[in-house]
Amino acid sequence: MGKSQDKVAVITGGASGIGAATARLFVSEGAKVVLVDLNEEKGKAFEKELKELSQEVLFIKANITSEEEVKNIFKQTVETFGKVDVVFNNAGIGRVHPSHDLEYSEWRKTVNVDLDGVFLVARESIREMLKTDGGTIVNTASMYGWVGSPGSAAYNAAKGGVINLTRSLALEYAEQNIRINALCPGFIDTPIIPEEDKQALAAITPLKRLGKTEEMAKAVLFMASDDSSYMTGNSLTLDGGYTAQ
Ligand SMILES: NC(=O)c1ccc[n+]([C@@H]2O[C@H](COP(=O)([O-])OP(=O)(O)OC[C@H]3O[C@@H](n4cnc5c(N)ncnc54)[C@H](O)[C@@H]3O)[C@@H](O)[C@H]2O)c1
Repeated sequence: MGKSQDKVAVITGGASGIGAATARLFVSEGAKVVLVDLNEEKGKAFEKELKELSQEVLFIKANITSEEEVKNIFKQTVETFGKVDVVFNNAGIGRVHPSHDLEYSEWRKTVNVDLDGVFLVARESIREMLKTDGGTIVNTASMYGWVGSPGSAAYNAAKGGVINLTRSLALEYAEQNIRINALCPGFIDTPIIPEEDKQALAAITPLKRLGKTEEMAKAVLFMASDDSSYMTGNSLTLDGGYTAQ
């Protein structure tokens, strides 16, 4: 019996990186997985790959900044699998640019995906979970929700927002048995980090390497499953020691 046996799990940003590794682990632990991503080509290819392990996988193309498309994710999930138990609210974007030169439209774009989109997915998750006996939500923040860094003001502000959004929603829905926690990754080896930056980022990390997506997936499984049954409103940092400095 897997740790997410027969659970229905929605994973945003499921076509790549941390989301894809988590989807793979959840499928191996018995979950029915809904992959959500803006990138249809990657999403469909990954759906095909996962279907070799389990037929109970569905890809939905959606932009998490669209209220209608987010509503449709949950409509289609319930139509296909009957309910929603787990949501890994993980899709996000990052861009480094000097703040004095940042166009307002660029600021809005980042905050729109990394904070507004996370809220929209959380809201629809909660609406669905209120119809059943609860569920678990894991929001992806970042170690840069805790500490600052030059050139990433919009991203860092949005990720700090995700940490306090997580606390606030966790308190609001604790009595309805909806546990809500956040994952705060450090530098993880995914396409979001430019290839040419990887060595330097590993060098400034106390463990002297980038994190692996599989290491994030295990933490998400912990937060999404009964193994963390007394944990809510928390943000778990997996950063190779970076924020301990
Ligand atoms: N990799 C890191 O070092 C790192 C560190 C801290 C936090 N994070 C966070 O982890 C999460 C996953 O990132 P990753 O590293 O796996 O990157 P990734 O680029 O490999 O995956 C992100 C996925 O999200 C999708 N996406 C982007 N915008 C979307 C939107 N509006 N609607 C739907 N899907 C959208 C992309 O198409 C992509 O498939 C992000 O929230 C990111 O900010 C990553």
